Amino acid sequence: MPNKIYYQELGLVNTGEMFRKALHEGYAVPAYNFNNLEQLQGIITGCVESKSPVILQVSGSARKYAHAALLPHLAAGAVAMAEDLGHPIPIALHLDHGNAFELCRDCIESGFSSVMIDGSHLPFEQNMALTRQVVDFAHDFDVTVEGELGVLAGIEDDVVAERSHFTRPEEVEEFVGQTGVDSLAISIGTSHGAYKFKVRPGEDPPPLRFDILEEVEKRVPGFPVVLHGASSVMPEYVAAINRYGGSMDDAVGISEDQLRRATQSAVCKINIDSDGRLAMTAAIRKVLSEHPGEFDPRKYLGPAREALIAMVKYKNANVLGSANRV
Ligand code: G3H
Ligand code: 13P
Ligand code: ZN
Repeated sequence: MPNKIYYQELGLVNTGEMFRKALHEGYAVPAYNFNNLEQLQGIITGCVESKSPVILQVSGSARKYAHAALLPHLAAGAVAMAEDLGHPIPIALHLDHGNAFELCRDCIESGFSSVMIDGSHLPFEQNMALTRQVVDFAHDFDVTVEGELGVLAGIEDDVVAERSHFTRPEEVEEFVGQTGVDSLAISIGTSHGAYKFKVRPGEDPPPLRFDILEEVEKRVPGFPVVLHGASSVMPEYVAAINRYGGSMDDAVGISEDQLRRATQSAVCKINIDSDGRLAMTAAIRKVLSEHPGEFDPRKYLGPAREALIAMVKYKNANVLGSANRV
């Protein structure tokens, strides 16, 4: 790795104050995944224009894709871009689904202000020990840490979970107390990717387990809770993808009403990756289908970026409630 860089030098913030405000005011901070320039520009522009705080989220594989040494400079650039657009917003750079202490340490030493250590697939005691190890290191640098209890179905980086198992509320208090984590991802029926449920046409996906969320809230009152796998798999993007040569017939996500309800609880971070991918893919397919001779990347990545900006603004204003909070 090149020289160590810490997030404070980059103008970033950790998630502590973001979550305190979101819990107090009853909204969720958006955590949008990115791995390339247009996604970063789209997320920042959308959040600046809607005056929303934002968590820029990078998985381990996305970090490799973008190149680890480039990321802190991209994040510093995002801060400068927000200022240049005329409305600085709080920006955190977060490792999504960190799977090892070493990865979390490397991220902390290269500009991340927040890390997730995902030990959810491990036995409870091992998950606690690994999470504690990351927290001990991270807190020395004022970096916030997200842990996870319960397993979501779907794909998280290289880990594919065929079946989910819900968070067991009775484990939460001990986990939070023993590890010192700053927030906790829980499994209440969301799932990763664009194919979250198998439902027959016209049938609604199963509702989220708000009863589990309420039990968690009772055991750790006021503690920040995170929802992964929270894309709605917005039908207009799926339809556009299918119209312009794609094939995503059974794609289905979490309803916006369920997410709105979650924002009124201890849920103060909502993770969205798939919807951004769908918005961009729909726009790219449309351009290339209507203009088969086009080969300037700006001509299809530009519209993809515009589509992402519109999606981010829509979500912040109408689903997460994070618009106009800065
Ligand atoms: O939860 C996983 C995120 O959607 C990141 O996915 O590992 O393909 O970057 P990725
Ligand atoms: P989606 O696949 O529902 O967008 O979830 C993303 C996520 O949880 C990233 O950690
Ligand atoms: Zn996730």
